[in-house]
Amino acid sequence: MNLDQLVATAKAMVAPGKGILAADESTATIRSRFDAIGVESTPDTRRDYRELLFRSEEAMRNHISGVILYDETIRQFARDGTRLVDVIKSHSALAGIKVDLGPREMPFFPGERVTEGLDGLRDRLRDYYVHGARFAKWRAVIDIDARRPSAGSVKANAHALARYAALCQEENIVPIVEPEVLMDLDHDIKRCYEVTEYVLKMTFSALYEMRVQLEGIVLKPNMVIAGRKAKVRSSVEEVAEKTIQCLKNTVPSTVTGIAFLSGGQSDIDATAHLNAMNALHALPWNLTFSFGRALQAAPQTTWAGKDENIPAAQAAFYKRARMNGLASLGQWSPELEA
Ligand code: 13P
Repeated sequence: MNLDQLVATAKAMVAPGKGILAADESTATIRSRFDAIGVESTPDTRRDYRELLFRSEEAMRNHISGVILYDETIRQFARDGTRLVDVIKSHSALAGIKVDLGPREMPFFPGERVTEGLDGLRDRLRDYYVHGARFAKWRAVIDIDARRPSAGSVKANAHALARYAALCQEENIVPIVEPEVLMDLDHDIKRCYEVTEYVLKMTFSALYEMRVQLEGIVLKPNMVIAGRKAKVRSSVEEVAEKTIQCLKNTVPSTVTGIAFLSGGQSDIDATAHLNAMNALHALPWNLTFSFGRALQAAPQTTWAGKDENIPAAQAAFYKRARMNGLASLGQWSPELEA
């Protein structure tokens, strides 16, 4: 392990004004996104769509530090024969790779899941490094309601995250550690705080046990927020306040950076929350975005599978990337959206 290299990579991933584009949707997930815009999902349409994002010069050069890829994409070539990884690198952005194999139902824990993919991971990481990946992602999914999560499922997921992170660091790949407490049900913000705090404490305890170097990771948490179906909504300030309080209680200051997932929030909500955290608080870590939906929803619908829409789709992507880049500096305001 070369810790200096890991730290340099982690710092680049959360560089001020920049964040990460999560473009690592599995084949099933991207199919459902394409269904929504009436586009058939084939290797070529997936390539065309992702290529348009990676060729958005202004967005990529100024606001995107790295891109999380899916296995298919890291091996794909642009229409002109350039490797997609080289298109990303041409803007001085880093290539990353999703390495988990997805969450599966956990035996004896009804309604709870554990993420799989540790077997053979060392060899897969070596192969991805050769393909150009300098960081990786593993997503644990924490289901939440009054009864869930159980201690057993949180422990199992934290253990897997820590085992993955150690293997990544051994291979000089920065692990994005993503314990995602879901946002889609009806729990209130207090319950989200309670569960997120517990999950983060267990995750950092497991990272410590597995001897993971915290300077060489990027944490990818959920924001502390009421579920999408909750009746009571919190203000932007309350989400920012509770999220920062939770992170300060759980994340050691040696962690280089934190990059949030968007989790199904609206584009503007995700940006506003990130901005408020950076504008209103002094923080020991760089705090930025690693958004999937909140960066891609606008360019995806604008593109709708048509070549003639590519410039407009790239403009839509640039706008979200710029707004979130400003939010990572605490310099965004709603007027800029006009
Ligand atoms: P969302 O921003 O759409 O939640 O996706 C981020 C991600 O990578 C989830 O694993």
